[in-house]
Amino acid sequence: MLFQPPIPPHYNDLTQAQLAKRITMRKTELGSRLVILGHHYQQDEVIQFADYFGDSLKLSQIGADQKEAEFIVFCGVHFMAESADILSDDRVKVILPDLSAGCSMADMANLEQLEDAWDFLEKDCQACVIPITYVNSAASIKSFCGGHQGACCTSSNARAVLEWAFAQGEKVLFLPDQHLGRNTAFDMGIKLDEMLVYDPKLPDGGLTKSQVEHAKVLLWKGHCSVHALFTTAQCEEVRQLDPEYKILVHPECSWEVVQQADLAGSTEFIIKTVRESPAGSKWAIGTEIHLVERLIQEHPDKTVRSVASIQCLCTTMYRIDLKHLAWTLDNLAEGRIVNQISVTPDTKRLAVIALERMLANVSPAPVF
Ligand code: 13P
Ligand code: SF4
Repeated sequence: MLFQPPIPPHYNDLTQAQLAKRITMRKTELGSRLVILGHHYQQDEVIQFADYFGDSLKLSQIGADQKEAEFIVFCGVHFMAESADILSDDRVKVILPDLSAGCSMADMANLEQLEDAWDFLEKDCQACVIPITYVNSAASIKSFCGGHQGACCTSSNARAVLEWAFAQGEKVLFLPDQHLGRNTAFDMGIKLDEMLVYDPKLPDGGLTKSQVEHAKVLLWKGHCSVHALFTTAQCEEVRQLDPEYKILVHPECSWEVVQQADLAGSTEFIIKTVRESPAGSKWAIGTEIHLVERLIQEHPDKTVRSVASIQCLCTTMYRIDLKHLAWTLDNLAEGRIVNQISVTPDTKRLAVIALERMLANVSPAPVF
């Protein structure tokens, strides 16, 4: 995780209204030179300033399409800003308002660990493996996948990308989210006993050659610390509270939770499903709390709640706030670029292949 040095203390003295006024003024000054992107898990006070908001796939597509902007200020987390830098034109500078906005899941896989895994799978086990990385990963991991006949995916198109991967090779190494990998592969008809967990902290991932030989999918032992908070006990509580609730969860939740849910899908799928449901519908949602709260506000004619009674908050997304956004834009307007996220040309060269394969395999959001 990167370290964010403290911003000048006078930003702490400004009220939310003063910060909002300053951001609005800076946006006007910078005009079409600036595009602000916001992920759905951002706070409302930040998302109100996003020119575009969406899930990881939509934001990657928008980042790739920027023809006019000079600066993309990414209100999201580090891997998203890296993807925007990889996909956008070289003249575009990508900025993350708070450098400590990382992703605990992305931090669960590093290049050295992946190279060790590869040595074991390719050299020792002689397996024909296609590496697929969830977009929630470091640029170096994407680059490795792009350079080894693999690709990236998002939760919106994980199934399409896995189908593509199985047309290229006999096994898939899916990283870093074991849950998205397991839920997607299970949905495709792959049995649970054909999937093995590869633990990067253990020698050879804790697997034997014979286990690898019989597996179809190797699932990296990583997870999202937010979606891991949803449990089957919470689903049961919701059903007991009111059987009319439909349970709708993100596929970063565990397989057991996804099996208990009525529906599962990406962030965009969750939004669309609630939006298109009839008035009076009741939804218990298993995803980050800012999105759930926005759905509650946007659908007063429906009953929407979180699956969990505790607050499932992405603390790193939450680091992006008005103070950091105002500081970023003040600097840009005054000709200084702060917090630029810049992927090295060498890493970019292969990472872009993995991301372009992801964008080429766009398909409707999966339903598990
Ligand atoms: P999506 O935006 O692809 O639904 O992913 C959710 C997430 O956890 C982003 O970090
Ligand atoms: Fe990472 Fe989970 Fe936060 Fe998404 S919600 S940024 S996967 S920790």
